[in-house]
Amino acid sequence: MAVSKATDLGKALCIITGASKGFGRSLAKEISGLLQPESVLVLVARSGNKLSELQTELDSLVAGKHLVIRCVIADLGLREGVEQVMKSVRELTAVDIDHLLLFNNAASLGDVSRYAQSFENMEEVDSYLSFNVSSALCLTAGVLNAFPRRQGLRRFVVNISSLCAVKPFPSWVLYCTGKAARDMMFRVLAEEDPDLRVLSYAPGPLDTDMQLQARSSSADSNLRQIFTVLHSEGQLLTCEQSISKLLKVLLEDEFSSGAHIDYYDL
Ligand SMILES: NC(=O)c1ccc[n+]([C@@H]2O[C@H](COP(=O)([O-])OP(=O)(O)OC[C@H]3O[C@@H](n4cnc5c(N)ncnc54)[C@H](OP(=O)(O)O)[C@@H]3O)[C@@H](O)[C@H]2O)c1
Repeated sequence: MAVSKATDLGKALCIITGASKGFGRSLAKEISGLLQPESVLVLVARSGNKLSELQTELDSLVAGKHLVIRCVIADLGLREGVEQVMKSVRELTAVDIDHLLLFNNAASLGDVSRYAQSFENMEEVDSYLSFNVSSALCLTAGVLNAFPRRQGLRRFVVNISSLCAVKPFPSWVLYCTGKAARDMMFRVLAEEDPDLRVLSYAPGPLDTDMQLQARSSSADSNLRQIFTVLHSEGQLLTCEQSISKLLKVLLEDEFSSGAHIDYYDL
């Protein structure tokens, strides 16, 4: 990043999971303006229709810029889904890039209508962790193996984290556990490979479908109240607000690899 500091993200392969809506969708739109021509944007989610709509929007947003946009319809809760994304990524290894950007953004809140002591069913917990933890590790490993360290290639791995990675929220045992595990996973990755630029970014409370679930389904009435007030008083962040801070951090490229940075830290 040193050469192109603070202006763009180079000629990149940029992979965004959970790109069909919410933060991931807005990120795809914002980041497309920061990629140099001939860059490749890989958009992953289960909803093919929404990805196609986004592709059409991006095509007109960056018209003439020659961005290659690939949509991968995949369920990251399944091994086949992760393999499907890997297959698409491996097909791109011949593309000439100077930046690799992987945004592990896809996530789910899980069942927040119950407390920790109701989770007796291992399959339910495993299924949650498969999507929210295992898929992020396996996809990251696969992408990094497909694009190993080489001179002239700057590799960024971003984990979209949460305050819940560091603070327990009652009735959110799955989500808090998953986010804490992911943060540690990416800290280990940063420790193991100093060549990588690894960031866990907590985007703040966003006005997305996930927030709707948080304020309507959380078993904890205090949490429901907090999120309801944030929503009714217009204090939720727009995805664009949060993304501008994330992109500033990436462009400045001065964070300590493996760090957890919150929107409100900046
Ligand atoms: N919203 C907040 O207030 C908030 C706060 C802190 C952190 N975050 C984090 O920010 C990130 C984005 O959240 P958001 O609010 O944008 O969530 P969202 O609106 O619920 O969007 C989630 C995205 O993940 C995808 N997804 C869900 N299940 C999937 C699966 N099994 N396989 C593949 N993709 C899947 C969804 O697409 P499909 O349904 O099409 O698959 C969608 O594109 C998440 O990591 C979240 O934990 C959010």
